[in-house]
Amino acid sequence: MPASSSAPKRARIHLLSQRLSNQIAAGEVVERPASVVKELLENSLDAGARRIDIDLEKGGIKLIRVRDDGSGVEKDDLPLALNRHATSKISELDDLEHVASLGFRGEALASIASVSRLVMISRTPDASEAWKVETEGRDMAASVSPAAHPPGTNVEVRDLFFNTPARRKFMRTEQTEYKRIDDMIRRIALSRFDVGFNVTHNQRLVHRYEPAISEAEQRRRVSQVCGPAFIDNTVSIDMEASGLRLWGWVSLPTFSRSQADLQHFYVNGRAIRDKLVTHAIKQAYRDVLYHGRHPAFVLYLELDPALVDVNVHPTKHEVRFRDSRLVHDFLFSALHRSLADVRPEDRLEAAVAEPESAFAGSGGFADTAYASPRQQGFGLSRTQIEAQIASFADFTAPLGERPVMPAQTDDEEIPPLGYAIAQLHGIYILAQNEHGLVVVDMHAAHERITYEHMKAAMSEDGIRSQPLLVPVSVAVSESEADCAEENREALEQLGLSLERQGPETISIRQVPVILKSSDAEQLVRDVLSDFLEHGTSDRIEAHRDEILSTMACHGSVRANRQLTIPEMNSLLRDMERTERSGQCNHGRPTWVQMSMNELDKLFMRGK
Ligand SMILES: Nc1ncnc2c1ncn2[C@@H]1O[C@H](COP(=O)(O)OP(=O)(O)OP(=O)(O)O)[C@@H](O)[C@H]1O
Ligand SMILES: [Mg+2]
Repeated sequence: MPASSSAPKRARIHLLSQRLSNQIAAGEVVERPASVVKELLENSLDAGARRIDIDLEKGGIKLIRVRDDGSGVEKDDLPLALNRHATSKISELDDLEHVASLGFRGEALASIASVSRLVMISRTPDASEAWKVETEGRDMAASVSPAAHPPGTNVEVRDLFFNTPARRKFMRTEQTEYKRIDDMIRRIALSRFDVGFNVTHNQRLVHRYEPAISEAEQRRRVSQVCGPAFIDNTVSIDMEASGLRLWGWVSLPTFSRSQADLQHFYVNGRAIRDKLVTHAIKQAYRDVLYHGRHPAFVLYLELDPALVDVNVHPTKHEVRFRDSRLVHDFLFSALHRSLADVRPEDRLEAAVAEPESAFAGSGGFADTAYASPRQQGFGLSRTQIEAQIASFADFTAPLGERPVMPAQTDDEEIPPLGYAIAQLHGIYILAQNEHGLVVVDMHAAHERITYEHMKAAMSEDGIRSQPLLVPVSVAVSESEADCAEENREALEQLGLSLERQGPETISIRQVPVILKSSDAEQLVRDVLSDFLEHGTSDRIEAHRDEILSTMACHGSVRANRQLTIPEMNSLLRDMERTERSGQCNHGRPTWVQMSMNELDKLFMRGK
């Protein structure tokens, strides 16, 4: 209409048709074929299915069919199943606060039915026949008729978005949509090991996931979904504390990825994306991952449903934890601990089983107690370290002063990294162990050991702080000032003492000794912004670790230093005892194994 024409006629208010209001709701939950697959699979899982068949045609654009052997729907309830605001999963507000099912909004099927041709056939276990329901017209009137089907439910969705051209335009190619569906199915297959899934695309079987009960079967499914290299390079974890349980598999730092594409996190069986979770995991890997790389993981967090709000977003990809700090700290410490516990023998098991990958490894390290640096009879006291840091003088951890392994006798067990036989070009240590040859990057290994010892010595009795001669006043926002006040105790544990001076001013009275030469104002701002966002901060530790890491790098054996055999053996023994010794402070591997098999292959022996 041209702009100059008379004012538009005022439209009258009227109720939208059922279909149109469902189509509007569909805008939120049904973004593309993969969203339909997600909703249908979740319904099948909620119905207690043990086996689900998924048939797709043309990337799901032409057909998505999900068939299950779950509890089915009674004939009289069938028309309601396609109605918005109709659900069997919750009935009052209190239920919403403890949702244990994947669905609860009662709108997925109504939404999907409004933008596709949907037919649902269902039969309960005790019914003698199946019934079919579909909807028609603007008001989506349901028509029910008899059908043939075994107990369970079959939902067929054809021609998605045939009646909503705007949405249809946003669909990508068949392959792209199929890829998204495939990712979704993998994600869901990892959420329920006990359920079997069969997937066909254009009449071709693409996945068969058998129900996985035993640990070996579960590992097999993870391997099917994430690839065999992942499962061979992971540590499995299972930890419980304060009513929270975290279990699953996390990659060894040496198996990092250039993209954050192999990360699966589930809260009570629901795949979610969450900033707090990402942050906690990143923090746990901070010290071991090569810069810019991403860890891979499949992790399951289980907690009382009342402690997590799932009613945050229509797609349910997000949750809100009632006690986010508790969850964050639990995730961090559980993962941090597991990564620290990776020892040479764990990596060796896999390296030998899987000769392709010298960095392979798996399993936890439960039975060797970690000896503190003092018990090991070497190292520096924290006062010494602080003095070193204060003066930033060059510092060398005395390599030769450590107890040296006695020469090997026949009945003695060979340690995992074996015994040194030579030094190569002043850079590598060559050692012989049970499986063959071990090559150690001497500087990288020593650097990690020195660093871990320094950290342990530093944190034995907390972060020591020191008053500033002249307190520094900092202008902050009111919420930052409030935050400083509310978290006074937590901040003091970090060595920071802050005092409120006005609505938007605080003063810094005390800072950690080790950070006294850094920019206190910037440090406080960063820490407060962490607290506002995550309810906690790891800046101080991160800064401290950075400084210690630099110190360790300077203090470690340099290339071209000739080591004696006992010195080399002593380094190997330290590596076996030290946390995270498989990677240097920058996340690069410190040693590799070449098995006799691999060496034989090089010389074509036994061919
Ligand atoms: N595969 C199925 N087996 C048995 N019942 C089903 C199945 N799919 C749907 N239903 C029934 O239909 C109802 C409506 O399903 P719909 O997906 O629309 O809503 P919901 O799952 O309750 O909530 P949400 O919108 O959050 O998914 C469910 O509450 C359930 O009772
Ligand atoms: Mg549902």
